[in-house]
Amino acid sequence: MQYRKFQKIDVEVSPIGFGCMRFPVSDPKDESSICKEEAKKMLRKAIDGGVNYLDTAWMYHNFSSEDFVGEALQDGYREKVNLATKLPIWLVESEDDVMKYLDIQLGKLKTDHVDFYLVHGLDQERWDSVKKYNVLAKLEEARAMGKVKYLGFSFHDSYETFVDIIDGFDWDFYQIQFNYINTDYQAGMKGLKYAGEKGISAVIMEPMLGGKLANLTPQVEERISKERSQVEWALDFLWSQPEIAVVLSGMSTMEQVEGNLEYAGRWEERQLVEEDYEMLKGVKEVFDKMALVPCTKCNYCMPCPFGLNIPGIFEAYNQTASVSTSFALKTYAQYDVKADACRACRRCEKECPQHIEISEVMKKVVTAMAE
Ligand SMILES: NC(=O)c1ccc[n+]([C@@H]2O[C@H](COP(=O)([O-])OP(=O)(O)OC[C@H]3O[C@@H](n4cnc5c(N)ncnc54)[C@H](OP(=O)(O)O)[C@@H]3O)[C@@H](O)[C@H]2O)c1
Repeated sequence: MQYRKFQKIDVEVSPIGFGCMRFPVSDPKDESSICKEEAKKMLRKAIDGGVNYLDTAWMYHNFSSEDFVGEALQDGYREKVNLATKLPIWLVESEDDVMKYLDIQLGKLKTDHVDFYLVHGLDQERWDSVKKYNVLAKLEEARAMGKVKYLGFSFHDSYETFVDIIDGFDWDFYQIQFNYINTDYQAGMKGLKYAGEKGISAVIMEPMLGGKLANLTPQVEERISKERSQVEWALDFLWSQPEIAVVLSGMSTMEQVEGNLEYAGRWEERQLVEEDYEMLKGVKEVFDKMALVPCTKCNYCMPCPFGLNIPGIFEAYNQTASVSTSFALKTYAQYDVKADACRACRRCEKECPQHIEISEVMKKVVTAMAE
């Protein structure tokens, strides 16, 4: 397997990293019920096959991922990998909390240091907390003590906030949601380029949109070239971006581990060319249209006499298909007036240039957001 490099730091990483968030579980309703024997075999198979980057976090698998990873990395496996975990910034309420949580994590992971330590899931509000509680100085302190090696952050917010955070500290790396569908979403391609110009490489999460790009809907599948598998297109797209160091995959089966190891073994020969990008753009167009409602946020429908933010609610509804239900619920939670407040007066429908049957869609939103 040919390794890849971070621009700023002298570490070589496997093109695929193990995302420790989607191990097989015995009870689908209980994320903490990791099938430990199977998951340990998968993790060790990946490491034996050359994977040297593992990404876990405080809350994955209902707070069990770090404990499990610590156990699975016994017998000499810890020394073979770069271990990444994340500070649960939403729990930090004082400067002392930073070291407190890191020490608990080191205990769970059964190690004396974390190689890649990220501030978890930064958005504007959490970035404000980072500043308020002097988190970055505390992390530098932890680094001086040898508890962490490289400092980064994972991110879910707008491009503008991304730039603000990238410019706000001397980061070694960062982690974003990115794939051939999310090129203009959150940090997006623009963010990748911006950080790349500053010499900071990316770790990629959700390379397959949580599995959606490995299992395209028939309408979208029609548009994708059959020269490679869907999974290969998703991965090869990312491995063709020089700003990306490692692509995390949340593998759930041994078959996926084996498949991803095979693809990672040949990334260099599979760099995309212009026609491939054009083809994937076409796939994205259909995917985006498949977005459940073709709202363009023109706001012609507003204001709603019953107080609904129609484009905002539709954006959340589309995210159930294009991002994830949990993400969509977070967006939806911003709106005090929910879809069930629609009285089907249909005033908005007369205004909509896309001819969306808004009152009908609102009924679907009610169902989708209740699931
Ligand atoms: N910091 C953050 O805020 C954050 C957020 C999200 C993720 N992450 C990290 O990033 C990692 C990667 O994100 P992700 O788990 O969402 O990755 P992903 O690759 O987008 O989704 C993982 C899913 O893709 C499918 N898959 C993977 N390899 C496959 C293969 N060879 N063949 C067929 N299907 C395959 C599987 O879905 P099915 O088994 O369902 O088909 C798997 O569960 C996470 O595990 C986690 O470590 C971090």
